[in-house]
Amino acid sequence: MISNKTQTVKVEIPAQQKYFYPIIIGENILDKVGELVKKYIKAEKLLVVTNKKVYPLYGEKIKESLLKEGFEIDFVILEDGEKHKNINSLEAIWQKAIEFKLERKDAIIALGGGVVGDVTGFAAATYLRGIYFVQIPTTLLSQVDSSVGGKVAINNKLGKNLIGSFYQPKFVLTDISTLKTLSVEELKVGLAEVLKYGIIEKSCGLNGLNTTFLQYLRQNKDAIFALDTDIIQELVKYCCELKAAVVNKDEKEAGLRAILNFGHTIGHAIEKCSNYENINHGQAIAIGMKGALFISKKRKLIDENYYKTCLELLDLYGMDYKINKSINSEMIYEAMFGDKKVLSGKIRFVLLTGESEVSVFNDVDKETLIEALNILY
Ligand SMILES: NC(=O)c1ccc[n+]([C@@H]2O[C@H](COP(=O)([O-])OP(=O)(O)OC[C@H]3O[C@@H](n4cnc5c(N)ncnc54)[C@H](O)[C@@H]3O)[C@@H](O)[C@H]2O)c1
Repeated sequence: MISNKTQTVKVEIPAQQKYFYPIIIGENILDKVGELVKKYIKAEKLLVVTNKKVYPLYGEKIKESLLKEGFEIDFVILEDGEKHKNINSLEAIWQKAIEFKLERKDAIIALGGGVVGDVTGFAAATYLRGIYFVQIPTTLLSQVDSSVGGKVAINNKLGKNLIGSFYQPKFVLTDISTLKTLSVEELKVGLAEVLKYGIIEKSCGLNGLNTTFLQYLRQNKDAIFALDTDIIQELVKYCCELKAAVVNKDEKEAGLRAILNFGHTIGHAIEKCSNYENINHGQAIAIGMKGALFISKKRKLIDENYYKTCLELLDLYGMDYKINKSINSEMIYEAMFGDKKVLSGKIRFVLLTGESEVSVFNDVDKETLIEALNILY
């Protein structure tokens, strides 16, 4: 039996076709994976994809649980890092799946952070035109963001996530105890996305805490950094609910889902200009959120007080990152045009329109944008 202490978030995908999958969230529940696969998938063989860092930490536990339930299993252990979210890793998974004679009734399991989840999900979406897929996210970012909503992809030399698909898992198993082995910097990558949810909460259409999410984040900072079990479980669950609420309405980013890109227009451009080195996703997004906040204030969409309140919260979480001076604002401006967020040649920007409310704009002029970038050095 799965412990009573777990909580489940239901993701409805896509809303019209009534496809549901659960995100099961709890502490020390990795050993339940065998039981869960048995419950949700009638598989015989399971291919677990992980990486060289995560396998020694959690590989054995997963293996034991799956073998106990009688599954035939095999592993693909990828190199670690964003630069391996590529065609070679995808090929390695396809190859092993073919050799292992995985059939469509079987499943591929992703064990790791967003990189493993994204590449494994794309392999599952394409092998035999789609095989069952399970996510076991082990970083805060993957637990609150990338494992929810079905975006799967690999990078290409010319850009991030350019080759991919929308492919939903059969279930997600989120064990918050895996966060204990993350470095503080990796935790902060996830926290940048958590802060983003705080800033866009109202537009996600939920109001699920006793207070606003921003206030909750302000009050619980110490408990969050200390990985207090109850607080982290509540936090991860609420972020999944916020993302699910958006995805349920707009799985394929035809409209509303774009609000999840708050901070990402500038953030992705900075990552690209840095060749994805010396700056991580969370740091870039934190800088991007400050830029978007500045533009929102400059356009008088929010007042000075609310602008300061949001900046103070980012600083409270140690998001005091700056753009490296070797990248100038013109380079970042140009890089924004290569992003998936460009529509008909116009850069799309998510800006605040009120407290915890955002909208998508495509009319931010170059002068304002350069002014915003210049305060970020
Ligand atoms: N699909 C989506 O909707 C979506 C959303 C946001 C981000 N992403 C993608 O997610 C990726 C970033 O994910 P990430 O931040 O999880 O990075 P990551 O997967 O590279 O993990 C970060 C580091 O932590 C290590 N790690 C993983 N779990 C660990 C654990 N429990 N203990 C110790 N170390 C651990 C990893 O091996 C890696 O070194 C990017 O490729 C991004 O494009 C996807």
